[in-house]
Amino acid sequence: ENKSDFGAGLLRWYRRVRRDLPWRRSRDPYHIWVSEIMLQQTRVDTVIPYFNRFMDRFPTVGHLAEAPEEDVLKHWEGLGYYSRARNLQSAAREVVEEYGGVMPRTKQEVAGLKGVGPYTTGAILSIAYNQPEPAVDGNVMRVLSRYFCLEDDIARPATRIGLEELAKELIPEGEAADFNQALMELGAMVCTPKSPSCTECPVGELCAGRLQGKERELPVKTKA
Ligand code: ADE
Repeated sequence: ENKSDFGAGLLRWYRRVRRDLPWRRSRDPYHIWVSEIMLQQTRVDTVIPYFNRFMDRFPTVGHLAEAPEEDVLKHWEGLGYYSRARNLQSAAREVVEEYGGVMPRTKQEVAGLKGVGPYTTGAILSIAYNQPEPAVDGNVMRVLSRYFCLEDDIARPATRIGLEELAKELIPEGEAADFNQALMELGAMVCTPKSPSCTECPVGELCAGRLQGKERELPVKTKA
């Protein structure tokens, strides 16, 4: 089984290529949360200046909760998908009202915040608190489908759940924060949708999809 090789190889690579991004300078769950919401439909380079302006204006969850909505939307202008900003502020108000302004640390509580789905829950718990929770988005589903040569349709909820279980098993002991970010980074930089750079991949020699010549056909995805 090549599961432990995967985690070790990926971590070694990530520590070499890791980009110094503003939200990586912090373990504050509020910073991680805002960055993950911004990054959901938007590229890293675009997000950086928005994230910095947002944190200057709303440095804590309390500041975000008490701001006028139009001010929050103004800081989102150009990022699109404005429901993300509205949900973020609703959830900030929940954090203030239900948790006294302190970000919750349990999976159930984090997952209950408005606009926070399974991916964002896992990202917050793992990156902020190093809890061994998977953070599986489209990039991660693509990486795992290729590496393990899994032909299940990633549009199916059951496939996603299976990949979350697999991703959780792959987390090296005590390394959830870096491992999850390494997976995201591999999907964004190397294991890209159309022309993956397999010769530059830290785990390319162990990749079952590549060994079977199927890297470009994976993942299988039916509906758009
Ligand atoms: N995309 C989603 N989450 C990310 C993160 N934490 N760093 C870089 N890119 C990401």
